[in-house]
Amino acid sequence: MLTVRELTKRYGDTTAVDALTFDVRPGRVTGFLGPNGAGKSTAVRLLLGLDRPTSGSALVNGRRYTDLPRPEREVGALLDGGAAHPGRSARAHLLALVRATGLPRRRVDEVLGTVGLTDVADRRVGGFSLGMRQRLGIAAALLGDPGVLVFDEPVNGLDIDGVRWVRRLMRDLADEGRTVFVSSHLMSEMQQIADRLVVVGGGRLVADAPMAELIDAWSHARTVVRTPDPGPLTAWLRDRGVPGRRVDVEQGPDGELRIQGARPEEVGDAAHGAGARVHALYREEASLEQAYLELTEGTARHTASGSGGTRGADAAPGGNGGEKTEEYR
Ligand SMILES: Nc1ncnc2c1ncn2[C@@H]1O[C@H](COP(=O)(O)OP(=O)(O)OP(=O)(O)O)[C@@H](O)[C@H]1O
Ligand SMILES: [Mg+2]
Repeated sequence: MLTVRELTKRYGDTTAVDALTFDVRPGRVTGFLGPNGAGKSTAVRLLLGLDRPTSGSALVNGRRYTDLPRPEREVGALLDGGAAHPGRSARAHLLALVRATGLPRRRVDEVLGTVGLTDVADRRVGGFSLGMRQRLGIAAALLGDPGVLVFDEPVNGLDIDGVRWVRRLMRDLADEGRTVFVSSHLMSEMQQIADRLVVVGGGRLVADAPMAELIDAWSHARTVVRTPDPGPLTAWLRDRGVPGRRVDVEQGPDGELRIQGARPEEVGDAAHGAGARVHALYREEASLEQAYLELTEGTARHTASGSGGTRGADAAPGGNGGEKTEEYR
């Protein structure tokens, strides 16, 4: 569990992290999303005791990192650009880490296996591809078998196989009940990795909510349904909406309906009710990007004007004067 309270870090005139408050809980993947320079890496460094907060606190399992008796057993981290000595082999790098921390040597082969580097364990890291180096960094994070994992931009520069592997690993780690906190500036990537999102912009909290809720609230997401029975489904949706609200239905070519204000599962239920056959049912992809753009655009304005207000009808009021964080919902 990570607990961040009113966390602030200033470097001279720059406020890299500005009164951030959020929790990261076990058993799920929490994404840490924000544009370049939003303060993600700074917050991560503060959590890992690599830098000291100007004010506020960043706790791992209820304690400051520097107060943890065996930090390597509680939290593992992959830092942006973290690297091993190029002249060393992967195995030698990990052995040096277990020697320094007093972890059992067998962990080296275990984590090499977990990240798929067993076959190249004795090759020099200098000759590793970016993907192999990322795997080695993740192996190092896993050495102490920690319950909390923090990954700063783990998919940066990875090819599709590497990206898919990282996603799978994050999911497995969360399913094992660990706390997984992953930063990225890529909405599309976050959408595929995270269950929950903490969004920052200009050092400040923009949103802290489950992924689905965030996308629904901030994007103009539309659900697309392809059906040979557009008439009955359209009538059903226009007449009844979905529970709790009205929806907007637009009919496209080939019986394809675009529905604003209803999630795919709600449209599926409506189709069932209307007796309409469904050949395809999905949410428009662009809407995810849209959600992110809306969020960060709001942030940019917010930062530029220097006064309160996340945007959107669902945003919480207040937050002016820079004292309180603004929590979406
Ligand atoms: N050691 C430092 N000294 C001075 N300024 C810093 C330092 N570290 C970060 N900053 C500034 O703090 C702000 C936040 O930077 P940070 O690296 O935390 O952002 P980020 O969200 O990780 O961005 P990116 O997506 O590019 O990795 C930036 O304006 C950056 O220039
Ligand atoms: Mg960063």
